[in-house]
This record gives sequence, C-alpha cells and structure tokens, in this order.
Amino acid sequence: MKKIQISPSILSADFSQLGNEIKRLEDGGADMIHVDVMDGHFVPNLTIGPPVIKALKKKSSILFDVHLMISPVHKYIEAYAEAGADIITIHPEATEDLELSILKIKELNKKVGVSLNPETKIDTIIKFLEKIDLVLIMSVKPGFGGQKFMPEVLNKIKELKKIKDKKDLNFDIEIDGGINFENSKIAIEAGANILVSGTTIFKSNDGDIKKNIELLKSK
Ligand code: DX5
Ligand code: ZN
Repeated sequence: MKKIQISPSILSADFSQLGNEIKRLEDGGADMIHVDVMDGHFVPNLTIGPPVIKALKKKSSILFDVHLMISPVHKYIEAYAEAGADIITIHPEATEDLELSILKIKELNKKVGVSLNPETKIDTIIKFLEKIDLVLIMSVKPGFGGQKFMPEVLNKIKELKKIKDKKDLNFDIEIDGGINFENSKIAIEAGANILVSGTTIFKSNDGDIKKNIELLKSK
C-alpha cells in the first residue's frame, strides 16, 4: 500500500506571498506542492507560467507537482521542465499525440502524469499506463479552486486501481478538486494515494496548514 501523500494546490494561496506560502506548506508537512498552470484557453482562467515557477523553485526544495491545464501543451513542456517542474501532468485533450508528449517529458527526466477530466473515460489512457508515473483524476471541472467534489469520479479511481493491481503497475493515483475532511477517506479507500487540496488546506481551521495536512492524511 503506497504512503498517502498530500499535494496542496497553491491556486488557493495568497498570490502576493507565493514564496512564503510555499515555505508554510513545506514547514506544514506537505509532500509536494501542486502548481495549477492555466492558460485561459484550455480552461477559462489564467494563473502562472515558467518564469514564476523558476523563481519559486529557486527558493524551495519541495517537489513541484505541475498540473498543465494549457493547450496546445507539447511545445511548452520543455519550458516547464527547465523552470523546475518535477512532475509534469498534461491533459490528453491538450496534445495531438499523447504518446509523443509522454516521451518528451520522460526524455527531460521528469515524472509524467496524465490528467482525466470528470467526463473523460479511462479507456483514453489505458495503453499508456505502463509508461506513466501518475494518473490525475479530476473531481471538479478544471479551472477553479473551491468547487464541489464530484463523487462519481470515485468509480474511475476504483477501476484504475483494479487495473493497476492486476497488471502490477506502479503509477500514483492522484485526485484533484474539492477534496476536504469529509471526502478524503473515501478517496483514499477508492485507491487514491496522493490528495490535492487547495481550499481545505489554506482556509480551514483559521488557515492552520500543518493541522489541515495532518487531518487530510489521518482520515
Ligand atoms: C482546478 C485545479 C485544482 C484546484 C483544487 O482546476 O486543478 O488543483 O485548484 O482546489 P480545491 O481543493 O480548492 O478544489
Ligand atoms: Zn490541479
């Protein structure tokens, strides 16, 4: 059984203090930080890009779990690798050739993740499972923090976990969107071993990050 890891989403952080917020997450016991990159085209929101990630990475030693909600994505992969992303997660709908984009990320010696939107079926990525390090299951429509958890995606996680166990594969299963103290346990029981959380970690218990991370892990 893989250790449960927490990847706080900095989308819910104070953007005027991003460096300090990442320090708070490191001190609070985060296993990595989830960096939501949005281009205003693949999703109707715009956040940060390579220059900001590069500046933040210089000041921190924690793993950067970079979620690219951008399209087209292939031509930008190298820029995020150079900026310091440790895990680069892309959406199948954002590239013309998923296999080529997966190989590109591996060539750059980064961990490769593929993200499935709530409505996207697992069939889309079955044939790539041996090649990837992480599957990111969206439990909200990508684009914004603070949305309501979509429990129907748990069936996808259960199905994915079955395939993973049957084929004895080692990819991580990460769930992203609306994760809180009420649903983190069912997400873990379904088979997720990395929980992304923004609102719950930054806003619950008067923003006590350490306590919120521990509460999510302990469920
Ligand atoms: C949404 C992002 C998620 C989101 C999670 O497009 O991919 O990572 O920021 O935030 P919460 O935990 O607030 O739903
Ligand atoms: Zn995300």
